[in-house]
Amino acid sequence: MFSELTVGIIGGGGWLGRSIGAAMLEKGVLAPTGLIISSRSGQVAGFDAWPEVQLATDNRQLAQRADIIVLSVRPEQFAAVEIEAADKLVISFMAGVSLATLLKRSGSRRVIRAMPNAAAEIGQCYTPWFATEQVTAADRAFTQAMFESCGSTDEVASEADLDYLTGLVGSGAAYPALLAEALLAHALARGLPRQVAERAVRGVVVEASQLLGRNGMPPADMVQAMLDYRGTTAAGLQAMIDAGFKAAIAAGLDAAEAAAQRMKASYSQPKG
Ligand SMILES: NC(=O)c1ccc[n+]([C@@H]2O[C@H](COP(=O)([O-])OP(=O)(O)OC[C@H]3O[C@@H](n4cnc5c(N)ncnc54)[C@H](OP(=O)(O)O)[C@@H]3O)[C@@H](O)[C@H]2O)c1
Repeated sequence: MFSELTVGIIGGGGWLGRSIGAAMLEKGVLAPTGLIISSRSGQVAGFDAWPEVQLATDNRQLAQRADIIVLSVRPEQFAAVEIEAADKLVISFMAGVSLATLLKRSGSRRVIRAMPNAAAEIGQCYTPWFATEQVTAADRAFTQAMFESCGSTDEVASEADLDYLTGLVGSGAAYPALLAEALLAHALARGLPRQVAERAVRGVVVEASQLLGRNGMPPADMVQAMLDYRGTTAAGLQAMIDAGFKAAIAAGLDAAEAAAQRMKASYSQPKG
């Protein structure tokens, strides 16, 4: 689809870079010859099916050869990444690295901050992103295609929205995992055999939760419908609500957003 482009993913051998790089190749967004992956060791797994993918250890060379530069190293590793992006599109996956820092460190004004999550690996990732004014319509079309190759995506209206979504989306699968852990602990404490308890929890958290996506019903309507039914589900839901379920979720999201803001502040001492 974008066969004329060369995309360089710095840190593309890592969890997220590898998942999104491979998804773009699988979905034909990019030609394998149009992908460059860098890692410090030069050892990169996950691209064996595409021997044409280029490997690099020098990020400056990658930045020179690529039309689009993707930053997928950990935030604390970014200080060691030296690139001169000129006016090329730069897309960062890094949590807690601000646009201001990205602009200063890359030298480009065409910069996008995005927040995918670990579910990119299974093509089920929702990715919000925020772009600077200088990002073009063609840049937006590529970015949309990149993230649709591994799930769904939206451009958001402000960097503050992206900071908030760092806590909601970036943490991704962790919140359902916490719910699953709590359900499982209760079932085991009630003496259920582990195999049955694990299969029951998986059935609820992974399988039954897909009803929400399929019938398109807003979550509040689904909860209300269950409460109105006045059965065992209503009793369970009401007790969870009365015990502070929603307040606990709100406190968790507030804490995750605050952590994202602190991270942004700690990584905002740009070089130069
Ligand atoms: N994983 C998630 O669920 C998730 C969710 C939201 C956001 N993110 C963000 O995505 C970014 C990547 O996360 P990840 O989970 O994919 O991390 P990761 O698995 O640790 O991958 C980072 C990769 O960067 C490479 N690297 C480090 N320094 C480098 C350098 N100077 N030049 C080239 N490559 C370098 C590492 O390979 P070598 O050691 O071989 O160099 C490694 O493969 C992070 O900034 C994180 O905040 C991740």
